[in-house]
Amino acid sequence: MLCIEAKSIFRSYGNVTAVDGIDLSVESGKIFGFLGPNGAGKTTTMKLLTTLIPPSSGSITILGIDASRHPLDVRKKIGVVLQQPSYEPTLTVEKSLEKYGMMWDVDAKTRRKRVEELLTAFDLQDIRKKKNDDISIGQRRRVQVAREFMHDMDLLFLDEPTAGLDPSARRGLLDYIKGKVRDGLTIFFTTHILEEAEYLCDEIAIINRGKIIAVDTPDELKNKFGREKTIKIRIGKVEQDLSSILQEVGDYDILHDEGTVITIHSADSEQVLVKILQVLQSNNITIEDLSVVPTSLEEIFLTVVKNSNESNISSGK
Ligand SMILES: Nc1ncnc2c1ncn2[C@@H]1O[C@H](COP(=O)(O)OP(=O)(O)OP(=O)(O)O)[C@@H](O)[C@H]1O
Ligand SMILES: [Mg+2]
Repeated sequence: MLCIEAKSIFRSYGNVTAVDGIDLSVESGKIFGFLGPNGAGKTTTMKLLTTLIPPSSGSITILGIDASRHPLDVRKKIGVVLQQPSYEPTLTVEKSLEKYGMMWDVDAKTRRKRVEELLTAFDLQDIRKKKNDDISIGQRRRVQVAREFMHDMDLLFLDEPTAGLDPSARRGLLDYIKGKVRDGLTIFFTTHILEEAEYLCDEIAIINRGKIIAVDTPDELKNKFGREKTIKIRIGKVEQDLSSILQEVGDYDILHDEGTVITIHSADSEQVLVKILQVLQSNNITIEDLSVVPTSLEEIFLTVVKNSNESNISSGK
């Protein structure tokens, strides 16, 4: 079943087109990552999908409900953590969770159970009695994300939930999210930390200047856009002049030769490697170590966004 189905949505602010004709489909039970540079239109898209603002045109169906016709029905079934901080300064951490549960009509017994579970899961037990005003920014973000789990929902939107979190808090949150998804929750999630998207997401869309420029699983994105691989070869002591021996390899892209490490960075890394191995063997040079540096999602992101900007420039946009 599709949890999110958006067709040809547009949204402008004055003469700025923030969302420029987006289609999205997100299956239930998945974690969908929404990536893109600052100002690309991620938050605007999230506000459209969560019915906080209406689209200029296009249709949005959330959990089978038409979002423009029945926004309140949509809101009852979803959770949203916005990018903008939101907290009540004078409430304590535990009261913030408790109050959020009350707002959602969660019964008292379930509220008590969930408050304890969330204080532990988000590492907030030590500061449970502190006011939101008196805790750190990262801790406040943890409270803001944690309170959203006070209520039941089928679909959760998270706009940069890990911004400002330290590495262990971040990993804790990602693993908590994974657990919830195993229990049936669907997540729509934005982040600028690409390792995080790779760790978490079943599918990723990259948005640039209001348009989706790539959408696929992290592995498929790498297959499509990450053909360039880096291979490092560490070799034993050599008497010969390495660069003159390797000249025979031809005009491949051998980036540098630091001491006894040869680095190949090419779309045809494997073929370059075979040639280099042949040359090394025929010169009786032994290989001590060989490693392939996998392409990261970060490289894919940079490539895809750069290509999209260049094609906009060449088409005069
Ligand atoms: N309330 C607003 N009024 C006018 N323009 C806006 C408003 N909100 C966003 N914009 C503009 O719309 C575009 C998309 O902004 P949006 O906040 O959706 O980007 P984003 O992808 O979430 O960026 P970031 O990674 O910085 O959070 C930007 O050009 C932004 O300046
Ligand atoms: Mg944003």
